[in-house]
Amino acid sequence: MNKKTFYITTPIYYPSDKLHIGHAYTTVAADAIARYKRMNGYDTFFLTGTDEHGQKIERKAQEKGVTPKEYVDEIVSWIKNLWRELKISYDDFIRTTEERHYKVVQHIFKTIYEKGDIYKSEYEGWYCTPCETFWTERQLEEGNCCPDCGRPTEKMKEESYFFKMSKYADQWLKFIEENPDFIQPETRRNEMINFVKQGLEDLCISRSSLKWGIPVPIDEDHVIYVWFDALSNYLTGIKYLEDDEFFNKYWPADLHLVGKEIMRFHTIQWPIMLMSAGLPLPKKVFGHGWLIMKDGKMSKSKGNVVDPLELKKDFGLDAIRYYLLREMTFGSDGTYSTEALIQRINSDLANDLGNLLNRTIAMVRKYFNGVIPEAGPATDFDEDLQVTAKRTIAKMEKSMDVLQMNVALEELWNFIRRTNKYIDETCPWILAKDEAKKPVLGTVLYNLCEALRIIAVALKPFLVETPFKIGEQLGILPDMETYQWEDTRWGLLKPGTMVQGSKPIFPRIDMEEYFAKKGGAFEDVANAVEPQKVKKEASREQNKDKKDQKEYITFEEFQKIDLRVAKVLEAERIEGSSKLLKVQVEVGEEKRQLVAGIAKYYKPEELVGKKVVIVYNMKPAKIFGVESNGMILAASTDDDSLLAVTTLDKDLPTGSKVR
Ligand code: MSP
Repeated sequence: MNKKTFYITTPIYYPSDKLHIGHAYTTVAADAIARYKRMNGYDTFFLTGTDEHGQKIERKAQEKGVTPKEYVDEIVSWIKNLWRELKISYDDFIRTTEERHYKVVQHIFKTIYEKGDIYKSEYEGWYCTPCETFWTERQLEEGNCCPDCGRPTEKMKEESYFFKMSKYADQWLKFIEENPDFIQPETRRNEMINFVKQGLEDLCISRSSLKWGIPVPIDEDHVIYVWFDALSNYLTGIKYLEDDEFFNKYWPADLHLVGKEIMRFHTIQWPIMLMSAGLPLPKKVFGHGWLIMKDGKMSKSKGNVVDPLELKKDFGLDAIRYYLLREMTFGSDGTYSTEALIQRINSDLANDLGNLLNRTIAMVRKYFNGVIPEAGPATDFDEDLQVTAKRTIAKMEKSMDVLQMNVALEELWNFIRRTNKYIDETCPWILAKDEAKKPVLGTVLYNLCEALRIIAVALKPFLVETPFKIGEQLGILPDMETYQWEDTRWGLLKPGTMVQGSKPIFPRIDMEEYFAKKGGAFEDVANAVEPQKVKKEASREQNKDKKDQKEYITFEEFQKIDLRVAKVLEAERIEGSSKLLKVQVEVGEEKRQLVAGIAKYYKPEELVGKKVVIVYNMKPAKIFGVESNGMILAASTDDDSLLAVTTLDKDLPTGSKVR
């Protein structure tokens, strides 16, 4: 019998810059869906990759003085490393610069051309290079700006090949009507229908003023338009023209997961290309919302990008995955904030889940010498716990069917809280006082362990470390590795299993301390990692055994930090904070205010008059609502029990450089 199959794709990423947490959002979401499908017995194929041609890349490479291929190679290895770090379980990574892809794109172009759907003409209009999109004059925003990204477009006039999209408008509308689920969510579907109803124009699909692309098979003076090239990756990735059996197993794709700004390409251009080429259409395109910052969409030019690797270093992988999947309503925009991320860690992960595990394991150790007991006589609360477990799984399945990962997690957390309540209802510490109640105590602890096992299995699509940490503590790690979704049913835990040591799986984060250490709101200080660092990251991964090797910085890197001598003029506590001091300093001619997280170690008056060293070019930030322009350097012991500000052993004028 044929296995059920599931083919899911993410967009292929432009290797034009380092990816930020917003990019990671699409891929983490796709990863959770792919993992869920695999756990449900689907033969799943998850494709991601990079979109490497086009004007944007050609220009970036020119700016750097390298060939486009050299330029993309470096960033692609950075991207691959990012996915490795985020444990993205993709089955293949396609690069549009690969030979296999050239064949497919040229074949599709030729098929459409031979069908009579491509003609040569002259393109006169506007082009947005960051979006790689053609626009007509009437579509532009004020100042000839791109209606999608708002950046200036460029006027273009060149000989081009055109694809007769307009010919397919009625066929497209009929398809959408007959397949109401094709475009999700509903609001995006309506937007796309309106767009087509306003009149579909033929699409320019070649460039003659550009070299960095796949050559048009019938005219080597042209390269194929980057979106025509990029969309075809969904065919190349499953061996189109290479292995029919493989291709037919997965095509048509079950789900293209994309950000809302590229819905038009995926729901209009792509299906029409397939119609013309005589290939079946994908089953669903889901357009998710954006992860935005308080000051708008993340972008390098705004300097508000958040680096996922930096976040991972600070909070751990599962905390980020949980935040991305739980905090945002899938399909709508959501605002990123480090405060909200820390709150999720502290309340949902450390408090609700972490405490449940800790309390349970500690009680099994205390009352049953670490051996999971058998369930004995029932308590009044068992049935509700078991019914809620079953209902939770059913609700999660319903949510996953409509790709509402946030709702699925919300349901699971309701169950986690319900399980915590079961401890309060049954009061095991009181049962433990009466030897005659030991069998009932056994029931309570078995149920708690079993609920935790179910929670861990249900977490497997979303989190990639936690389920195994829970499995390890419950003494069932090998089982946890093989458990499938159906193993979320009640009663699979074997009594007699020995639990392991109870270590908190999510340490609480002290928000104030965190921001004080970071020197401001995280959004302000987060910087994307340089691609050059990738190689270091990748080799770090491969050389785990050498992990305590030092990482060096160059002298040039060190020189970027402007350190100066400053004299403390005034210092005072910040109201409502036990750790922060507001400090006024003199740096040469200048007076400055900064915030220092040293109130536990220095009384304000002890600091006044001291000559300290500050980071003079620290980006200004607001900490606890107080403006901070710089950072005082201090040394501290690993456990933070001792701290001393850096002073000088000779008296130098303030403003002197430290180097
Ligand atoms: N190369 C095209 C896709 C071609 S697919 C045939 C592209 N690449 S991209 O690198 O710009 O974007 C990749 C994905 O990241 C898109 O789905 C995009 O929506 C997503 N995101 C980029 N920034 C984002 C946020 N701030 N928030 C959520 N997703 C965002 O488009």
